[in-house]
Amino acid sequence: MSFPFRSFTPRPLRRAAVLGLAAAASVSAFSTNAQTAPARLGLCAACHGQTGTATAPQTPNLAGQNLPYLRAALAAYRAGTRDVPAMRAAVSMLSAADADAVLVWYAAQTPQQAPHE
Ligand code: HEC
Repeated sequence: MSFPFRSFTPRPLRRAAVLGLAAAASVSAFSTNAQTAPARLGLCAACHGQTGTATAPQTPNLAGQNLPYLRAALAAYRAGTRDVPAMRAAVSMLSAADADAVLVWYAAQTPQQAPHE
C-alpha cells in the first residue's frame, strides 16, 4: 500500500492523516492476516458494522466487547429471554456456529468512535 498524499499534506493535517492511516492499516492487516472475516459477517454488519462499530441507529457497538458477554447475549436472544425483534430475526438466519464465528471476530476488533449519535 502506498500513500502518495503523505508527502504534500500540510503540516496541521499531517497528524490526523497519519492517525487515520494507522487505523486503516490496522483494519486491513486484521482482515487479511490475523483473521479472515467470517462467512456470515454481512448479516450482522448491516447493523453492527464490518468491524463492530454500529452503522444503524440505537445499535450497540460490538468491537472489543468481551467474548463471554457476547456469547451470553446471543444465547439469550436465541432462547427468547432477551426479546428484541431485530436480534430475534437476525439469530434465526444463521447457525450457532456461524454466529459464534462472528462474535469471535467482533471481540477481536479495536473499538472506534461511533459515527452516529
Ligand atoms: C436489524 C439490525 C441488526 C442486525 C442485522 C443484527 N443486530 Fe445485533 N443488535 C441489534 C440491536 C438493535 C441490538 C440491541 C438489542 C437490545 O436492546 O437488546 C443488538 C444487540 C446485539 C448483541 C448484544 C450487545 C450487547 O451489548 O448486549 C449482540 C451480541 C448482537 N447484537 C450480535 C449480532 C449478531 C452476531 C448478528 C448477526 C447474526 C446481529 N447482531 C445482527 C441490531 C441488529
